[in-house]
Amino acid sequence: MLIIKDAKLLSGQKEVVRHILIKDGKIFSITKKLSKVTQEQIIDAQHNFVIPGMIDCHVHLRDMELAHKEDFLTGTKAAAAGGVTTVLDMPNSKPQTITAAALEQKRAVAKKAIVNYGFHFGCTPQFDPEEIKKAKNVASTKLFMNPSTGNMCIEDGLLINKIFQYSRMMCVHAEDEKVPVAVEYANKTKKRLYLCHLSLKSEVEFLKKNKTKNIFAEVCPHHLFLTNDDVQRLKGFGMMKPNLRRKEDQEALWKAIHNGIIDTIGSDHAPHTKEEKMQDIACCPFGVPGLETTLPLLLNAVNEGKLSLQNVVELTSKNPAKIFGIKNKGLLKEGYDADLVIISMRKRKKVDNAALRTKCGWSPFHGTMLQGWPILTMVNGKVIFCDGLISEIPGCEVGYHEL
Ligand code: DOR
Ligand code: ZN
Ligand code: ZN
Repeated sequence: MLIIKDAKLLSGQKEVVRHILIKDGKIFSITKKLSKVTQEQIIDAQHNFVIPGMIDCHVHLRDMELAHKEDFLTGTKAAAAGGVTTVLDMPNSKPQTITAAALEQKRAVAKKAIVNYGFHFGCTPQFDPEEIKKAKNVASTKLFMNPSTGNMCIEDGLLINKIFQYSRMMCVHAEDEKVPVAVEYANKTKKRLYLCHLSLKSEVEFLKKNKTKNIFAEVCPHHLFLTNDDVQRLKGFGMMKPNLRRKEDQEALWKAIHNGIIDTIGSDHAPHTKEEKMQDIACCPFGVPGLETTLPLLLNAVNEGKLSLQNVVELTSKNPAKIFGIKNKGLLKEGYDADLVIISMRKRKKVDNAALRTKCGWSPFHGTMLQGWPILTMVNGKVIFCDGLISEIPGCEVGYHEL
């Protein structure tokens, strides 16, 4: 038995101090009193908050042919340091995850991940939709309705309709006027739709009127904490899709978080090398890393009164688990997997390119002082990050409930 003692937990609106007993990688019980402990291993949380680990539904880990940008080990080390205990990997890598065979190939290289992981399947104009039926244990099919990294954008309405029909659920990159189109496909086919990275006020306005129980919306930290004013300073390092928007769009996203229009926060961790990003902004690839900084940015925002810790836990863990039907995760509860993070709401640290674990070695938030950091990350009952040190213990592939 492993015990995390004196853990501050959120219980509804209240904060309580409890002890978390962990056995065989799962939460065995959460107790008020500790009975005589003998040879148990004890971790003292020292009245710091313990929250369920972040489940990041939107991650591009690039292994195999793009492993010079990131791989499953370096990316999940970044996750561990950032308090992320599960990642769902996107299909627009090389090779693209658009056949059952390519999925199995990715599954094999993902074994080096040190956090838990799952996969989104992909589609392209040339792919065979029957492959969706052959793909085992995937979170969703990811569709690009706008051009982006990986050339996977599909325009053919009949094909899109088929993809929706064949899929367990859909993740869609849809910007601006494509959002209503994606929602229409979801309604027509009665499928669950996860709209990636909302970034515009107009998208929020549309969803205010048209969101149903099958439509879910994500925002990304770069759209919450940066605007197009930052592009001058960041140049290529501030280029991503959707790109950085105006201040009023950013304000609409924050409002949408508080109105419950936003369900999740995903990092859209999309690493590219410094060399690539230093090219002219007209030709540099789109995407920024985020696994290591998303939770700290949000905890800092909690300290600034922009949202509550309860909001953060719902947006980063509880809702992602529920929306994708990930088994045994998203809550600190008896019988659930012991995927959790001890956070210090007082710890102050600057984001520093030189200290990051992501292989790309940079962040658009370099130099930003943040208060609120993960100090210990546990995956499947094992400590993989503590005192700034990583332990390379393999994670597991997640399972899914029927939706
Ligand atoms: O900025 C982005 N980067 N947006 C995307 O849609 C893809 C991603 C990537 O894979 O680089
Ligand atoms: Zn996207
Ligand atoms: Zn993405």
